[in-house]
Amino acid sequence: MKEPLIVLENINIRTRDRSILSIPRFELFPGEALGVMGPNGAGKSTLLKTMALLDLPGEGTVFYRGKKVTDHSVLDVRRRFAVALQQSLLLDMTVHQNIAIGLKLRHRSRREINMKVEHWMEVFKISHLARKQALHLSGGEAQRVNLARAMILEPEVLFLDEPFSALDFPTKVQLLKDIKQVVSKTNTTTVFISHDLTEIKYFTQRMAIIMGGEIKQAGSTAEVLSEPNAYAASFIGEWSRLLT
Ligand SMILES: Nc1ncnc2c1ncn2[C@@H]1O[C@H](COP(=O)(O)OP(=O)(O)OP(=O)(O)O)[C@@H](O)[C@H]1O
Ligand SMILES: [Mg+2]
Repeated sequence: MKEPLIVLENINIRTRDRSILSIPRFELFPGEALGVMGPNGAGKSTLLKTMALLDLPGEGTVFYRGKKVTDHSVLDVRRRFAVALQQSLLLDMTVHQNIAIGLKLRHRSRREINMKVEHWMEVFKISHLARKQALHLSGGEAQRVNLARAMILEPEVLFLDEPFSALDFPTKVQLLKDIKQVVSKTNTTTVFISHDLTEIKYFTQRMAIIMGGEIKQAGSTAEVLSEPNAYAASFIGEWSRLLT
């Protein structure tokens, strides 16, 4: 078994009156695509933010390549990750500028930035939109820009929080195909939250079902879908049976 890339240990995240995430131990392995499913409010985005080190947990430890992430190291580790959310949160500038911004902030040379922006626009088939204002894009176009903006950072881990949920079916299918090809070619570890079983089935090798802030089942995607435990079955069982 490969060494895990990220390990969560004894994580507890609470609001004033209740627990929103409670994870004794959970591992993310290098090169895998992990799916996360669960009902609304289950804690999926909280789990993603914790793994991506956007929020440091009040209680518990995150390990990255076997080393405990501390206040001191968190920025350095977070720089290896990229996150794409359902809302693409593009800035009021051109597509080209939006994709370039991450590398600009890292003080890369103009030549390198332009080369990489061209490359990632090509990969995501948005070269023709380079000079367009990002706020005028359609949802599908904006999500392509969003993904190019994430991938240009050459992240070790790409975190996707329902990035395709607002897209029409053909747009979603094409984008899923493209991003799957990109992450496999670049060997990028991916965490993918989705409410859509078919997306999870297509995109991931392993999946976790989270309910009430707890991981109720984790295993290979094929196994969880064909043999859901009682918790998972209550959430995906019927749909899963219809599909398999
Ligand atoms: N900063 C916060 N302060 C208080 N409560 C929060 C905070 N963030 C999340 N929560 C609560 O924690 C629970 C889990 O939220 P989370 O966003 O992780 O759910 P989710 O599984 O991503 O849901 P969805 O499918 O709707 O996106 C919810 O009940 C939410 O209201
Ligand atoms: Mg969420």
